[in-house]
Amino acid sequence: PQVDPFDLVIFGGTGDLAMRKLLPALLHRYADGQIQAGSRVIGVAREGLDDEGYRAQVREALAGSHARLEEFLGLVHYRPLDARKDEGWKEFAELIAAEPGHVRVFYLSTSPELFEDICNRLGSHGLNQGQSRVVLEKPIGRDLESANRINDAVGRVFAESQTFRIDHYLGKETVQNLLALRFGNALFEPLWNAGHIDHVQITVAETLGVGRRGAYYDRAGALRDMVQNHMLQLLCMVAMEPPASLSPDAVRDEKLKVLHALKPIDGHNAAQLTVRGQYRAGVAEGQKVPGYLEELDGKHSDTETFVALKAEIANWRWAGVPFYLRTGKRLAERVSEIVVAFKPVPHSIFDAAGPLAQNRLVLRLQPDEGVKLWLTIKHPGPGGLRLRHVPLDMSFAEAFGVQQPDAYERLLLDVVRGNPTLFMRRDEVEAAWRWADPILDAWAASSEPPRPYAAGSWGPSAAVALIERDGRTWNEDS
Ligand code: BG6
Repeated sequence: PQVDPFDLVIFGGTGDLAMRKLLPALLHRYADGQIQAGSRVIGVAREGLDDEGYRAQVREALAGSHARLEEFLGLVHYRPLDARKDEGWKEFAELIAAEPGHVRVFYLSTSPELFEDICNRLGSHGLNQGQSRVVLEKPIGRDLESANRINDAVGRVFAESQTFRIDHYLGKETVQNLLALRFGNALFEPLWNAGHIDHVQITVAETLGVGRRGAYYDRAGALRDMVQNHMLQLLCMVAMEPPASLSPDAVRDEKLKVLHALKPIDGHNAAQLTVRGQYRAGVAEGQKVPGYLEELDGKHSDTETFVALKAEIANWRWAGVPFYLRTGKRLAERVSEIVVAFKPVPHSIFDAAGPLAQNRLVLRLQPDEGVKLWLTIKHPGPGGLRLRHVPLDMSFAEAFGVQQPDAYERLLLDVVRGNPTLFMRRDEVEAAWRWADPILDAWAASSEPPRPYAAGSWGPSAAVALIERDGRTWNEDS
């Protein structure tokens, strides 16, 4: 179904996220008929471009992605604006006011340091009124204190109900499917606790390096860029109690409780529970690639491009069940998955081949989204009762034959519809920083730099040791 006509303004309109994710997502929703022709997509940045100049950039970035690109470009506009200067804002406000019936979405895809200035200007031109919404791209701040400052500043202009803190992992098909699997089947929930689950693993591995995002990334690092938001959100979706409904606050209340129950990692235990790494030159996907520091033009940096850690949730359901998280740039493979590993059977009646393999439920977020449930079965045929470990395998592409829409497609339209279920509430962001800050502090205080790993590997060997010390291994079945 079509959404109401809207104006979507992208601050940071010439940036990486706009070109790689936001505009393609809008193009695809447009091509699918969900966006009405009168809607407008307005890129905003400091560069002095006009509509045509911006369209040319978008045309180049999106070339070949859809036959209806030219038609879509008809919706696209541009305004040069500087958050720190008055110039142009009055005309911009008039442009928006020209469509009083439109839903207005202000997407802040800039450095969070600009959020306050942008919101103040939107407010002083009355653009926070009526059907206006603001979308905040992550990371919101760089610690709890700066996040509070930003949230306060945004909150003086936009109500919480108008504020959409995006975490695009929540828009991924498999993450939604986790809700369906957990709460749409009677099978899993009785086993979904410390009595039956041995541990959980969440891996988000990327093959790309930091590329042209070095300036942002070097100030962030993997913990701020991926763990504080995406990975904790995945952890919450696995670990939360069943919400009473899918209403936005019912779901977010349950996630918040998980964040509050995370055991602190700080200067006392960070050395045992966390591993950080930084890639060196190596071979990724058959290509020789430079190391992180070379990508920063040889600048010195202790920013981590890899993190592995062992988290625990101190509540009845999860006491004693480790959640192993790992993420990194320039790893061996692009794969994001959640693995729920069940406890072994209490007693084996099969005398043959050693201990039985664990049942594992593997939720693959990307690539080739799907769900696998690893089971022990009998190897077919004569030759005695030989056991095999095989997956019940459901690939979304094979089962449904359609390409899954990108996470941003769903989330952008959710903003237009005004549905915040898949967005982070302020208290969630704060709770996540409250857990992440002491880890960052412990690292900052440590004299040990991040451990080097070769691009194209699976990260520093200490990350393997982190899980193997506990007699477990990272999932390798793909
Ligand atoms: C972003 C991070 O939020 O997520 C990037 O800032 C990262 O560093 C990206 O590459 C990964 O998203 P996806 O959807 O490609 O897994």
